Amino acid sequence: MNKNSITSIINHVEKIVKKDYSGELHHGWAHLNRVRNYAVYIAEKEGADAFIVELAALMHDIAKIKYGSTVKNHAKKGALMAGIILEKLDLDNNTIKKVCSCINTHSRREPPKPKTLEEKCLFDADGLELVGTVGILRTALYAAYYDKTWNDMLRKVGSRISKAKFYTSTGKKIAKKRIKFVKKFYEKMELELNWKKENKKKKD
Ligand SMILES: [Fe+2]
Ligand SMILES: [Fe+2]
Repeated sequence: MNKNSITSIINHVEKIVKKDYSGELHHGWAHLNRVRNYAVYIAEKEGADAFIVELAALMHDIAKIKYGSTVKNHAKKGALMAGIILEKLDLDNNTIKKVCSCINTHSRREPPKPKTLEEKCLFDADGLELVGTVGILRTALYAAYYDKTWNDMLRKVGSRISKAKFYTSTGKKIAKKRIKFVKKFYEKMELELNWKKENKKKKD
């Protein structure tokens, strides 16, 4: 496929997701676009097919937006929805199959796990949203939305970090720095939440 066709397909899909998925803070366009940027970077670094990965990243959470954040099997549903969108475009079946397979394997909670390099690139790109500053804010939003306590939030982040699996060396490298920062942030937060004058340290 030539460069013009690639650009026109990407632009077309971008328009669809931007129009339909603009409003939601947690999994809306901004999230899709950040994951897309990470995914393309990781794919290029790892020598994966960046076109497949970019298309998949642009559509990876479309089922969450359509059916809500708590929908079951959003990866599988999203893959089916993406297939319907992509079948209308000038793409061969093999490409469509690979894009849908990336979407089907991108979730940390839902099986199946990623196997191909392209699937791993999307998985890692989406995972970078769980760690780092955006990860902290997304967890805070989750806590506010579900009326959770700060301590629930700390526990959630703790489990997220301990489960933070990354496959590619590029994804691992970016994640490592972010996880370090998030751990420090939450250690400090824990100190503040449990602050007592008798435990006061100089750093508090
Ligand atoms: Fe997802
Ligand atoms: Fe996502």
